Amino acid sequence: MCGIVAVTGYRNALPLLINGLEKLEYRGYDSAGIAIVNPEENNLICNKSEGKLIKLKNNLSQQEIIGTVGIGHTRWATHGKPEVKNAHPHLDSTGKVAVVQNGIIENFLDLRNKLEQEGVSFQSDTDTEVIPHLIKKELNNLKKLNLEDNGSTLLVAVRNVIADLEGTYALAVLWADAPDSLVVARRQAPLIIGLGEGEFICASDTPAIANLTQTILPMEDEEIGLLTPLGIELYDSNNERQYRNPTSLKCSEQVVDKMNFRHYMHKEIYEQPSLTKNWIEKYLTRNNDSNNIRVNYSFDTNFLEDIERIQILACGTSRHASMVGSYLLEQFSGVPTDVFYASEFRYSPPPVLPNTLTIGVTQSGETADTLAALSMEIKRRESLENKLCKPNLIAITNRLDSSIGRQIPNIIDISAGIEIGVAATKTFFGQLLSFYGLAITFAQIKQSKTDNEINKLISSLENLPSLLEDLVIQHNEISEKLAHEFSEIKDVIFLGRGINYPIALEGALKLKEISYIHAAGYPAGEMKHGPIALLEKKVPVISIATPGKVFEKVISNAQEAKARDSYLIGIAPKCEGTEIFDYLMPLPTADEWLSPLLAVIPLQLLSYHIAAHRGLDVDQPRNLAKSVTVE
Ligand code: G6P
Repeated sequence: MCGIVAVTGYRNALPLLINGLEKLEYRGYDSAGIAIVNPEENNLICNKSEGKLIKLKNNLSQQEIIGTVGIGHTRWATHGKPEVKNAHPHLDSTGKVAVVQNGIIENFLDLRNKLEQEGVSFQSDTDTEVIPHLIKKELNNLKKLNLEDNGSTLLVAVRNVIADLEGTYALAVLWADAPDSLVVARRQAPLIIGLGEGEFICASDTPAIANLTQTILPMEDEEIGLLTPLGIELYDSNNERQYRNPTSLKCSEQVVDKMNFRHYMHKEIYEQPSLTKNWIEKYLTRNNDSNNIRVNYSFDTNFLEDIERIQILACGTSRHASMVGSYLLEQFSGVPTDVFYASEFRYSPPPVLPNTLTIGVTQSGETADTLAALSMEIKRRESLENKLCKPNLIAITNRLDSSIGRQIPNIIDISAGIEIGVAATKTFFGQLLSFYGLAITFAQIKQSKTDNEINKLISSLENLPSLLEDLVIQHNEISEKLAHEFSEIKDVIFLGRGINYPIALEGALKLKEISYIHAAGYPAGEMKHGPIALLEKKVPVISIATPGKVFEKVISNAQEAKARDSYLIGIAPKCEGTEIFDYLMPLPTADEWLSPLLAVIPLQLLSYHIAAHRGLDVDQPRNLAKSVTVE
């Protein structure tokens, strides 16, 4: 994880670094730091602080740091606690080499032990700190070779060092003796170079670049680069110089402000009705014959006709959206579908079967486990002779400019607009809508449903925005009041069945993420097989009961909880059966297929208000990061 940014050019580096780091804080906010070359004194100025970037900014506001070459970092702790000593940049013992890193160096202990035996003393508990020490050692060795200039010497030193590193990294390196130069390198962690006029910026993600330039050169895996104000040199792992054309950013930097909301998450929940409206306009086209509706994709969908099964790879909230997707694809479209935790799939994939569609779902497009699982799947399928087993791929993402956006040609763009709150809400909603679109497409291909049934679902989707608008307003008020009841609560159980089981999981995840209350979601029918032992007065049960196939069953399961004295909250329409709930968060009566899109709104708002009521940092909850770029 972590965000890195590096600049070289003619302007003062500090504001550029801070601006870049502000855009990368979603990648972690355990600490932040910068290092800038001070050419007059032939040294580096390094400043770091624990906690969020604002602390670093406050520290730096008292100082004037002049220098045009620098690196910056915002950290999500992996090795070593979130303390100043573990904040990046890390320096070698002379203080002349500085390194920021994203990723994990898996063999750092071996490397550290060796360096310690050679007398190096370490200042931090991180895996990263071995890198500046190794680079310094390498620079000392290279001095004897008298290379053409110090920038090239640094490049060679870094190249030699990364050859010994195991694991993943995106790196940016400064050396006080090469005052114009930056060396950057990547292995399975994103790094993008922005090409300005007489200046270059390199960062973990495009928002950190967009302010400075729209022209980018995403680094390929295993590449290393030397950046000076005069130009860039890129090399692959065989030390071959790479030449390729830069591209333009697909999305311009979106200005996101909180409007009148206290938190981004709250605003993002409120954006869901308009995002649904935009989605309908973008993806559902009615031909002249109004009964003939097709879902619009940016890629040719002919290959979907041969698909016999689907596997979906995702993490976190994206996995919950995928589970709803899997329900729709199987039950509505008749295509056998499995959802995998991307992190599990990597090491225990199912046997390869022919005519399989693999869908990667990641709002950020950068989740390391999802990217690695997809790459692994592509490789193992490409190595097979059997043409029917070749990879068929789709990615669902909110970030066209991300690694997945560059890796997979068939992209379904969630188009939810940038999401700032670390806990995903509107992008989850956008992922759900994407799956409704896919389910409609497959139902049309497989003729698993009649035209009437398909059109009924489409009409229900078209009616959704106005339902959602009312729902958000109504449940904002209800949740704000209900949140007070949760002041002393330590555990909450969420129940759902069928299409709403994943919504129970998502409800529990939202609550855990932002309010730090322990919560667990279960398929309602499973509660009696264990979780029921947890139930008592102080453990509320939130049950999603929407009319349809399993409504009566869910109500019976809720009865079982009530008999154990649990306070029972129902996410359900006001109808016969729902009077058993101690508190009803009412839903409009709607088509069962659509119920996840309705049921999730009260759950998001309830979590939000519980966390806000507790005075917690809703948008940047402790220990989390929006994009997890380590395994
Ligand atoms: C992190 C975030 C979660 C998110 C998950 C997957 O853990 O904190 O909110 O669901 O990553 O992210 P992705 O970008 O792949 O959807």
